[in-house]
Amino acid sequence: MSGDDRELLRHHGDVDAARGLADFAVNVRLERPPEWLRARLAEALDDLGSYPSAEADEAARRAVATRHDRRPDEVLVLAGAAEGFALLPALRPKLAALIHPSFTEPELALRNAGVEVERVVLDPADGYRLHADQVPDEADMVVLGNPTNPTSVLHPADEIRKLLRPGRIVVVDEAFIDTVPGERESLAHLAEPGLLVLRSLTKMWGLPGLRAGYALGAPELLAELGRNRPHWPVNSLVLTAVRACCEPHAIDESQRAAAEFTEHRAGLLAELADLPGIDVVRTAEAPFLLLRVPDGQEVREALRDRGVAVRRGDTFPGLDTGHLRVAVRAPEQNSLFVKALRDAVERG
Ligand SMILES: Cc1ncc(COP(=O)(O)O)c(C=O)c1O
Repeated sequence: MSGDDRELLRHHGDVDAARGLADFAVNVRLERPPEWLRARLAEALDDLGSYPSAEADEAARRAVATRHDRRPDEVLVLAGAAEGFALLPALRPKLAALIHPSFTEPELALRNAGVEVERVVLDPADGYRLHADQVPDEADMVVLGNPTNPTSVLHPADEIRKLLRPGRIVVVDEAFIDTVPGERESLAHLAEPGLLVLRSLTKMWGLPGLRAGYALGAPELLAELGRNRPHWPVNSLVLTAVRACCEPHAIDESQRAAAEFTEHRAGLLAELADLPGIDVVRTAEAPFLLLRVPDGQEVREALRDRGVAVRRGDTFPGLDTGHLRVAVRAPEQNSLFVKALRDAVERG
């Protein structure tokens, strides 16, 4: 991609998932939030008669702090991880290194604000593994996802920690880490002056329409990040959801879901192994897989003709039209997908 590629960087899986198609493009676990969460949100509707209170904000931050073994002043509730990306320019980086292929919103937010960015594109032949020494020394901000959308690779926490140094901010987008058993390799608990971790409620809890997430970092860093936010930046329903999703029963549920994703992904990988001509990133740890097929656009269209939507890969820096991202679903759906893919590849 060259020139002004921002239109392509703005592409997201929800556009690929047209109505009526079996959706393997969007990576949200549930079609709607679970009953217990809907009940909590319904109860909180009465709170909409007043402005979100400092007490409700504090209660949400306390719940997050307890969940991650942090202090409440190390938490900033956000309107989704996406708001965290939009706020990054407030940290006034001079050169931001973006680890790719990865979710493109951070790059867009930084470029739109006039921040100089440099892409560090990981090598497919090396399994898209992170090597901290590939990041330019001059970068005073580094942004990466863990696990990474769209490669599904989970980087070792120790390798990410090597990126930390005085005068540099390391932003780790952990929007999908609650789908990893034990939240292995998460840095959410780590208090380091330059570390900013972004988390999301969207994927695990079926909440893309609410816009809920949070940042974890040093209080001074969070103050700087939120410098230009409006008053009442998140609404009362978001505060309620954040609090509820940090409770022990919610963590238990998310861990059960993580174990289930692991099992279903292994099943899908096994089925895909029988398909000739399809490369898959097999070190996957997220609830989606990155595939490479001989002709991505043709295969995507053939899949659509068979009622299946997948996410195009070529809008991610470092990938091309041969790449497709596929959500891991329940075994029966995964089998239907593999059947449609086999058919699409063989017959076009
Ligand atoms: C890797 C990644 N990070 C962050 C986000 C945005 O999360 P949120 O819905 O919390 O803004 C997405 C959404 O697609 C994503 O894929």
